[in-house]
Amino acid sequence: MSRRLVAAVVAIGLLVPMTQPWTSAQDAKESAVGKKFRKPDVIYVPTPHEVVAKMLDMAQVQKGDIVYDLGCGDGRIVVAAAQRGAKATGWDINPERVKEAQENVAKNKVDANAKIIHDDIFTLDLSGANVVTLYLLTSLNEKLIPQLEKLKPGSRIVSHDFSMPGVKPEQVVDFTCTDGGGHTIYLWTTPLKKEKKATAGTFETQIP
Ligand SMILES: C[S@@+](CC[C@H](N)C(=O)[O-])C[C@H]1O[C@@H](n2cnc3c(N)ncnc32)[C@H](O)[C@@H]1O
Repeated sequence: MSRRLVAAVVAIGLLVPMTQPWTSAQDAKESAVGKKFRKPDVIYVPTPHEVVAKMLDMAQVQKGDIVYDLGCGDGRIVVAAAQRGAKATGWDINPERVKEAQENVAKNKVDANAKIIHDDIFTLDLSGANVVTLYLLTSLNEKLIPQLEKLKPGSRIVSHDFSMPGVKPEQVVDFTCTDGGGHTIYLWTTPLKKEKKATAGTFETQIP
């Protein structure tokens, strides 16, 4: 290889990571290669934009945060978090949603801060995040507890409409949209405050 070519290869090697957008269609392709995904655990229903803003306010999302949206749908939470300067990643098991979310990221020009990946959320290591957003189901939130327990202390978890059985929330807010629709938003901070089932139907907080 000529010296000039070697220099060019080195220069490109140095440049690529600097110019690579945070959103990478390649990530989605790579994660999907060789994997057969099952059906989504919950259907797609988007969180209204006003509720997204309230969820991110409650989690105090700002520049420097690493936000993961588990089951990202059209990517609206990822886009909104990236617009606040956070690094945001969304995962969805449905390839149609992944495509929509990637288009949404591109349309809003937040590629530098946002990434969408095609994968099953129950296979993820969440330890890299300090904010996790959820709009799933109570049973799915409960199933995520072992993964959420790996978050660093001081991380925030916000869930639209669904609680997490056995874990005491820091805050529960009833939010009314301008169209009159009512939504409940739950906030937890880590380490999670687990509740021990005392007697049938009641919970008591576990003192560590
Ligand atoms: C109710 S929607 C919420 C979408 C978005 N987070 C929002 O709040 O607008 C739930 C999303 O989770 C996705 N989903 C369901 N099961 C999943 C799984 N096991 N792994 C990844 N995504 C999943 C669905 O495809 C759907 O887009």
